Amino acid sequence: MELLCIQSQEHPELPLAELKAVMECENIDAEIDHITEGIVILREISQENLMDYYQTLTRRLGYTHEVHEFLLETTVENLEGDVSTFDWSQYIVESFAVRVKRIRSEIDTVGYERKLGTLILDNSNGIKVNLSKPKTLVRVVAHENDLYVGIERIKLDKKHFEDSKPHKRPFFYPGSMNPKLARCMVNLSRIKAGELLLDPFCGTGGILIEAGLIGCKVVGSDVYWKMKNGTAINLEYYGITDYRTFHLDVRELKMYEKVSSVVTDPPYGISTSTGDVDGEEIFNEFFHAIYDNMKDDAYLCMASPHYVDLKPMVDDVGFEIVEQYGIKMHRSLTRIISVIRKKLD
Ligand SMILES: C[S@@+](CC[C@H](N)C(=O)[O-])C[C@H]1O[C@@H](n2cnc3c(N)ncnc32)[C@H](O)[C@@H]1O
Repeated sequence: MELLCIQSQEHPELPLAELKAVMECENIDAEIDHITEGIVILREISQENLMDYYQTLTRRLGYTHEVHEFLLETTVENLEGDVSTFDWSQYIVESFAVRVKRIRSEIDTVGYERKLGTLILDNSNGIKVNLSKPKTLVRVVAHENDLYVGIERIKLDKKHFEDSKPHKRPFFYPGSMNPKLARCMVNLSRIKAGELLLDPFCGTGGILIEAGLIGCKVVGSDVYWKMKNGTAINLEYYGITDYRTFHLDVRELKMYEKVSSVVTDPPYGISTSTGDVDGEEIFNEFFHAIYDNMKDDAYLCMASPHYVDLKPMVDDVGFEIVEQYGIKMHRSLTRIISVIRKKLD
């Protein structure tokens, strides 16, 4: 069995990296077929695992917009024959709608929605089209001359990422990253529900909200009490109750329980205060402070500006960089997302 994932094209690499990280930590056993930027098919999934995998992916992913049970792959030329001979009765009950999405394709989406709808109707019994409230959504993704057809079994809640934008939270302070990137970073840290995640520069709690929403226990600390309190207010607002917050300089960090992951956005640039630590030195101090607070197999996912060279600092402490991705913010600033772990002996 197969799943069709339609991903964001906001970044060329992060959506796929996020998917791979979730598959790794959730033990999702499937072949990844990366068709093109925006389309991934997960193949060779056993029938008994399909719905579990489907649920896990829709609950966790930030940069994947839709997940569907994948039904068939065809081309513009073969569409009519393939759709007419397909047995729709086991997938469509009562009513359906067809929606076509294009990724680097020139096809007329509305025309193809009508054409496919008619073909399905002509080859099935007892079903009708309902465009506003269909029982089954048939999703087609067109890429160049190829068409990928799936049906939606579970809806991804994309509204959350709109509703939790920093300025919509009860406690707001400039400098919080967008929630989709925060979710992606949590996922890159390979944490699972029930495990403990720490953000020692928690600010308004943007990263902790995303971790809490996928079921992690969260701890946040910040050198300013106002931020520590604001984080608690925001976490409560999003219904997250399994959390602790501390008013603490990162250099004094000493956790009673070692954490399963650290996800954070340390201060840099003129808009964020670093307490009394000078510029890049905050990164160095952070790596030293965090090491002993992490489990041996824990991952750290962090953001940093391109001009800070993390490599010598992580080497010095005993960490290694596993993955890095650049996000161009403007002409003179690229934000680097790094996934780091302790060096294995
Ligand atoms: C870029 S902001 C983090 C934003 C956060 N991710 C959010 O969602 O709002 C960096 C945070 O680090 C805090 N900070 C600065 N220096 C610190 C230090 N030495 N120890 C702990 N926190 C510090 C700042 O108060 C600020 O809230």
